[in-house]
Amino acid sequence: MPAHEKCLLTTIRPAQQFPNQVRGLLDRIAPTAYDWRTTGPIRMLCAQVPDSNTDGRFSGRGDDSVAKQVALITGVTGQDGALLAEFLLGKGYEVHGIKRRSSTFNTGRIDHFYVDPHEASARFFLHHGDMTDSTNLIRIVQETQPTEIYNLAAQSHVQVSFETPEHTANVDALGTLRLLEAIRILGMTDRVRFYQASSSEMFGSAPPPQSEQTPFQPRSPYAAAKLYAYWSTINYREAYGMHASNGILFNHEGPTRGETFVTRKITRAVAAIEAGLQDRLYLGNLNARRDWGSARDYVEGMWLMLAQDEPGDYVLATGETHSVREFVELAFEQVGVTLRWTGTERDEHGIDASSGALLVEVDPHYFRPTEVDDLVGDAGKAHEILGWRHRTTFRELVEEMVAADRELLHKRSRM
Ligand code: NAP
Ligand code: GDD
Repeated sequence: MPAHEKCLLTTIRPAQQFPNQVRGLLDRIAPTAYDWRTTGPIRMLCAQVPDSNTDGRFSGRGDDSVAKQVALITGVTGQDGALLAEFLLGKGYEVHGIKRRSSTFNTGRIDHFYVDPHEASARFFLHHGDMTDSTNLIRIVQETQPTEIYNLAAQSHVQVSFETPEHTANVDALGTLRLLEAIRILGMTDRVRFYQASSSEMFGSAPPPQSEQTPFQPRSPYAAAKLYAYWSTINYREAYGMHASNGILFNHEGPTRGETFVTRKITRAVAAIEAGLQDRLYLGNLNARRDWGSARDYVEGMWLMLAQDEPGDYVLATGETHSVREFVELAFEQVGVTLRWTGTERDEHGIDASSGALLVEVDPHYFRPTEVDDLVGDAGKAHEILGWRHRTTFRELVEEMVAADRELLHKRSRM
C-alpha cells in the first residue's frame, strides 16, 4: 500500500523532552513508526502514513505499511487493566486481555467496550488464563504475538497479602517470572516490550519523598512479592536485552476502584449514609498518608514508558500526600456533612457536626501488622523523560468518586 511521510518541525532537544503534544498530533495520523530526522538545527519527528488513512487514524488491522500494535494485558478485568485497554483501543491497538475463570461475571469494568469477536470490527479479545499457570501464559503469548505486554495481574490488596502470603507471592512474584520466561522461551525477547506494575508499597518505611533512587524497605508480603517482580524485570532487561520497564506507581483511584480499598470504601459509604442505607463507616488507621492520583492519568504513563526508545523504571505520582482522615472529611463534605473528630486512636470518632450523629468509628480489625505510614512520590524523572504529568487534583478525585457512587445508588434505586 502506498504511503507518504508526514513530519512535524521542532527545534527542541533532546527528543524525549517534548513527547506529549507533538506525539499526540502524530498519534492521530499514525501511532507507530516515528522517526527522527535532523536538518541543520531543526529536528523533525516523521511518520509513514498510509494513503488510505483518510480519517487520520490507524485502524489496527489489515494495513501492512504501518506495523500493527498488539497489546496483551494481564489483569484486564481490574481497575487499571480496563482503563488501559480502553486507552490503547483509542490509540488503534489490537488488545488482548487475560481474565480468570469465575463463577460469577467479573467483566463489569470492560463490558462497555467489549465487542463480540465475531464482528469484523472487533479489536478487543479475551482469553482465559491465570498467572499461576505457565503453560497457559506461554500459549496465550504465542497465539496473540503481542508487541507490548502490560503485566497488571496481581493479588493487589496489601492487607489480604498478610492472610494469603504464599498465594500473593505465587501470583505477584512468580507470576511475573512465568510471563517473562514465556517471552524468552518463545524467542520473543527482542520483539516485545514489557511493562511491570510495580508499586510504591515497595518503599515501605523509607522516608518520603520517594523516587527511583530511594532504597526499598518493604513492609508487607505484597511489597516483598512486588520487589521480586521488580528485580526480575530488571534482570531480564540486563540479561536478555529486553525492553522491560517498571512503573513504580503510587496509589491511583477512580470510580471503578475495588470496593475494599480505602478510598472506594469511603466514597461508597458516604453515598450509602446519605441515602439512609448505612449508619456508620468503620475504618482502620486514619493517620496513614498516601499520594493519591487518578488511575486515568496513570495508564497513559504506562503506555509512555513502552513508547520510549530505551526501557527504564519510572515513578508516577502527584507529589502530594493526604491522610485517610482528610479523605474522609472531604468525601463527607461532598454531601454537605462537616465532620468533627473526638477521642484518640482506637477511640477516635467522626461525628456529624450539625446533627451529632456518629458516622465514623475505628475498628482495629483493619489495622495492619506492619503499616506504611507516609508515601509521597517524586515523579521528576517521568516529567522530564516521558513528559508525563498528573492532571487530576486530590479534590477533583474525591469529588468524582463520591459523585459516581451517589449516581450508582440513584441508578440502583430506580431499577
Ligand atoms: P485490581 O483492580 O485488583 O486488578 C487486579 C487484576 O489482576 C484483576 O483483573 C484480577 O482478576 C487479576 N488477577 C488477580 N489474580 C490473578 C491471577 N492469579 N491470574 C490472573 N489474573 C489475576 O488492581 P489495580 O488497582 O487495577 O492494579 C493493577 C496492578 O497495578 C496490580 O498489579 C497492582 O498490584 C498494581 N498497582 C496498583 C496501584 C493502585 O493504586 N491501583 C498502585 C501500584 C501498583 P479478577 O478481576 O478476576 O480479580
Ligand atoms: N483497605 C483499607 N480499609 N485501608 C484502610 C482502612 C480500611 O478500612 N482504614 C485505613 N486504611 C489505610 C490502610 O491501613 C493504608 O494505610 C491506607 O488506608 C491505604 O490502604 P488501601 O486503600 O488498601 O491501599 P494500599 O496503600 O494499602 O495499597 C494500594 O496502593 C498500593 C500502592 O501504594 C493498592 O492498590 C496496592 O495494590 C498498591 O500497590
